[in-house]
Amino acid sequence: MLVTGGAGYIGSHTAKALHRAGYAVVVYDNLLAGHREAVRYGPLVEGDLADRGRLGETLRRFEIGAVVHFAALLAVSESVHDPARYYRNNVIGTLTLLEAMAAAQVPHLVFSSTCAVYGEPEETPIVETHPTRPINAYGETKLAIERALPHYERAYGLHAVVLRYFNAAGADPDGDLGEDHDPEIHLIPRAIQAATGGAPLEIFGDDYPTPDGTCLRDYVHVSDLADAHVLALQALAETGRSATVNLGSGHPSSVREVIATVERVTGRPVPAQLAARRPGDPAVLFAASRLAADGLHWRPRHSTLDEIVRTAWAWHAAHPHGFHGGTV
Ligand code: UFG
Repeated sequence: MLVTGGAGYIGSHTAKALHRAGYAVVVYDNLLAGHREAVRYGPLVEGDLADRGRLGETLRRFEIGAVVHFAALLAVSESVHDPARYYRNNVIGTLTLLEAMAAAQVPHLVFSSTCAVYGEPEETPIVETHPTRPINAYGETKLAIERALPHYERAYGLHAVVLRYFNAAGADPDGDLGEDHDPEIHLIPRAIQAATGGAPLEIFGDDYPTPDGTCLRDYVHVSDLADAHVLALQALAETGRSATVNLGSGHPSSVREVIATVERVTGRPVPAQLAARRPGDPAVLFAASRLAADGLHWRPRHSTLDEIVRTAWAWHAAHPHGFHGGTV
């Protein structure tokens, strides 16, 4: 099993879940955003998606039967300022991987996609058949690959399960892995940083048409996302059927609710100040995850806001400087 981006946040948690499920895991990562210390469940091949030769050689050398593809750039605002980098990495890089897979006759792919493909939702909860109209380059790059996949399936026999994540959050409940982005852009780790002496949290707008005026998001535990990849691979092996599936808890939480939960769990105040809306933030995003439940038999087990924040806090408290800073 090849896990591209397996040194990253969701990738490393998925490598652990796959290893537990009995798969032999090989991680392919250029370590630009990933961490060598997060690769614990199989060998690491250091390589870039642009390196077609190395990809092909890795697929053959390890006799790879399926690929779980995470390696990608993921910051929405960065994608607005530097779309070229996003198209090069996320689109050209992924197409290079798909060509290498087709050449090596690897038939199964699980592809990391995002709720950003929906853009500003017309209706919530969002079902998979909702129109896809991304409002940023990041979402466009993911949708471009989603649209290419059926053509690759017809021509090259490459079957794919596309997983559209909502807000991945939390950390491995055993404390082995956690979130370590540089810079950190996500709400929960930023709120934890603010609670532990970092810069005050900026609340990006409180005049949204929501109950408390702040944005509603669907936070889903990273270990639940990881489990869904195992189920997607099993479904591919059993049926060979391609599918596109939302992964969310189905419960919307506001920015203020997240802050209150971080304060309760850490026992510390989260210094926060009101800031302007962040461009490109929809007011409300949450998933209908019926397809994941019915089609993949996926049941989120850790995705209450309380457990998400508790595991994120435990990881941060044990690794205040992430993977590289050692433990305290
Ligand atoms: N937020 C703040 N302050 C911060 C950080 C975030 O108020 O310092 C707010 C945001 O405005 C948003 C919510 O907290 O309402 C969550 O923000 P995140 O940055 O944690 O996550 P996003 O919802 O922006 O991003 C997620 C995924 C992306 C995906 C995007 C789709 O991480 O991959 O949803 O909109 F593209």
